Amino acid sequence: MMEEKDRRLYGELQLPFNHSYLHGRIYPPFIKQKHLDATRIFQLRSDDVLIATYPKNGTTWTQKIIQNLHKVHKTGHDLTRGDKVLLEVMPWLENTPHEIVDKMPGPRYLKTHNSYNLVAYNPNIPCKYVYIARNPKDVCVSLYHHCKGFAAFEYDGPFEEFADLFLKGTVESSDWWEHVKEFYQNTRDMDVFFMKYEDMHADGVSAIKKLNDFCSLPPMTDEMATEVLQLSAFKSMKADPKSNYSWLDDVRKKDQAPFMRKGTVGDWSNYFTPELAAKFDNKTREVFADIDLDFCDKL
Ligand code: PPS
Repeated sequence: MMEEKDRRLYGELQLPFNHSYLHGRIYPPFIKQKHLDATRIFQLRSDDVLIATYPKNGTTWTQKIIQNLHKVHKTGHDLTRGDKVLLEVMPWLENTPHEIVDKMPGPRYLKTHNSYNLVAYNPNIPCKYVYIARNPKDVCVSLYHHCKGFAAFEYDGPFEEFADLFLKGTVESSDWWEHVKEFYQNTRDMDVFFMKYEDMHADGVSAIKKLNDFCSLPPMTDEMATEVLQLSAFKSMKADPKSNYSWLDDVRKKDQAPFMRKGTVGDWSNYFTPELAAKFDNKTREVFADIDLDFCDKL
């Protein structure tokens, strides 16, 4: 790591990693105003399913499960094509030209990290939102490796510093607690299916069957859901170049953890002191005091 005096700080927030600051929110540096504008031009369709997450909460796993739901049902949907990587068939809305999204066959499954107030939404077009959330301590560890791993962030700080930024809401996608709470409260009454990463670990078959029904796919037996779970397992995704983000290897630092890093519940305990864990738990208690939402952080 660099000497403190040599460290570069970026933008008006003077953060130790490169970023864009748009509409009061922090984005990766390659996301510009024109990209966010494009997400407003794109035309929502009533059969769209938006996979909405704060980064590192289980987006890619959910994308893979949805792809495998279509495979097991043999729907013949374009997203089961073997020649394209996961992010091509379920693109990230904020980082994909709307001309591409506009041409996609439906139902479209689109990834977004936008906050509740900026997410693609039209009260006259009742599309669906799958929201996945994960316990904040594991999110913080995963986002730390993400920020260090993608060269664009130009970040090389210690975990303690990053955890402090996370608590303050000054990391990519800003405040985790606010992001999650707004989707959970869903004051606009959108059609949101709220899933927890830990539930997918604890009882994947049940989570997959619920997701299947929410996506209005044909009925799914336990056997079919077990097959989907196996096809979407961390180990097989990690080995699959169409799922493991190796297509972004060129923009990652070679000496850092891979995108498919550990995929577990509870890795936070290898990074957090008891004092830091208490700060996170206290913030969760305070911010979620008026809602019925909690997260398990070990299985
Ligand atoms: S991103 O960049 O926002 O799209 O990242 P996201 O996909 O939301 O989160 C990445 C973390 O999810 C883990 N992952 C999985 N866990 C369990 N099972 C499967 N199949 C799976 N696929 C991805 C991935 O390893 C990241 O977590 P960490 O803790 O860093 O390993």
